[in-house]
Amino acid sequence: MVENVVGRFSMPLGIGANFLIDGRDYLIPMAVEEPSVVAGASSAALLARAGVGFKTGCTDPIMIAQIQLLDVADASKAKRAILASQEKILACADTSPTISQLGGGPQGMEVRYLPDTEAGPMLIVHLFIDCRDAMGANAANTAAEAAAPLIEQISGGRAGLRILSNLSDRRRAWAEVEIAAKAFDSNDYSGREVIRGIAEANAFAIADPYRATTHNKGIFNGVDAVLLATGNDWRAVEAGAHAWAARGGQYRALTDWHVRGCGDSETLHGRLELPLAVGTVGGATRSHASAQIALKILGLDVDGQEEFSTESGGSAGDAGAESGLQGARRLSQIVAAVGLAQNLAALRALATTGIQKGHMRLHARQVAVAAGARGEAVERIAGQLIAEGSIRLERAKELLRM
Ligand code: MEV
Repeated sequence: MVENVVGRFSMPLGIGANFLIDGRDYLIPMAVEEPSVVAGASSAALLARAGVGFKTGCTDPIMIAQIQLLDVADASKAKRAILASQEKILACADTSPTISQLGGGPQGMEVRYLPDTEAGPMLIVHLFIDCRDAMGANAANTAAEAAAPLIEQISGGRAGLRILSNLSDRRRAWAEVEIAAKAFDSNDYSGREVIRGIAEANAFAIADPYRATTHNKGIFNGVDAVLLATGNDWRAVEAGAHAWAARGGQYRALTDWHVRGCGDSETLHGRLELPLAVGTVGGATRSHASAQIALKILGLDVDGQEEFSTESGGSAGDAGAESGLQGARRLSQIVAAVGLAQNLAALRALATTGIQKGHMRLHARQVAVAAGARGEAVERIAGQLIAEGSIRLERAKELLRM
């Protein structure tokens, strides 16, 4: 897959449980090295089941290919000429018969003017390429390179860069959830207190870039884990989503959490929307054996089609009718749901006991294992270490000998 290989670098592959997405049960493959991420996503997904689970949606899978035009004598005239030749340019950019046969390919274009860059004025042509179930980097790059000579001819300019934009803001997915306050009730906190705390935490991350960065990092704990497991380019998604988070001029939370209703009927409503350029065909999704298995677990492995049915979820046909989607678009919706769940888990912990308590349990388990504990002894010794308030290897070894 890459150059100068000297070995493999393995990651744990966990399963996010309890996910109900658009009326259908999913097990979520998550490749991640950080403790608590899989557990957090699973516990938040269980909370979401108290409502109707996650509702998701997405746009068409439109990628943007950019062509940079320099040395254009008359920018307005060139822009008009390019737009007038749209049909010819799009035909020229239609380089993937496979994508076109599936109903994708170049769908439109726009021309942007950058009057004062350090290198002088530039015209930027955007080609909108529907990439179907591919992530689409290759399709977009090939289309840009194919159309550039014709665009040069039409505009009288010189083509510079011809490359996709990872700010794939025309290819977005979103997930929503609504959960009754009482689902958050615990011995220590009322559900109403917890959901108010979550809404306040979100408001903090909308207003403050320092907090928003950490808030969004938590979302990517889940998003990246699914992207990595399915062989997708998580750097591309991260780059696009962070730019999207700053689209209003200030970096903000990607989520919205609000309390709805009042009194006993209060609910927590959450929404996450982000650019999600993912594929279920091509690249590592096909060449990496574990990515294939991850897609299979999600039911997305056969030519980009969902192929399994579950007892509570009904048939693939039903799911298709409800979500209207399969393949890469379905994957993008699942990823959005996992990101939202991950954020909920973090905010719930932060708005109540803090996250260290949960981390301590995992740390205690790791210490118990390091001391030699196996099977049920791991939980027993970890529990004892926590009860004693001191998580030390020597003490774990003592407990194991007792
Ligand atoms: C840790 O990996 C992620 C969190 O910091 C996210 C957050 O603060 O929202 C817990």
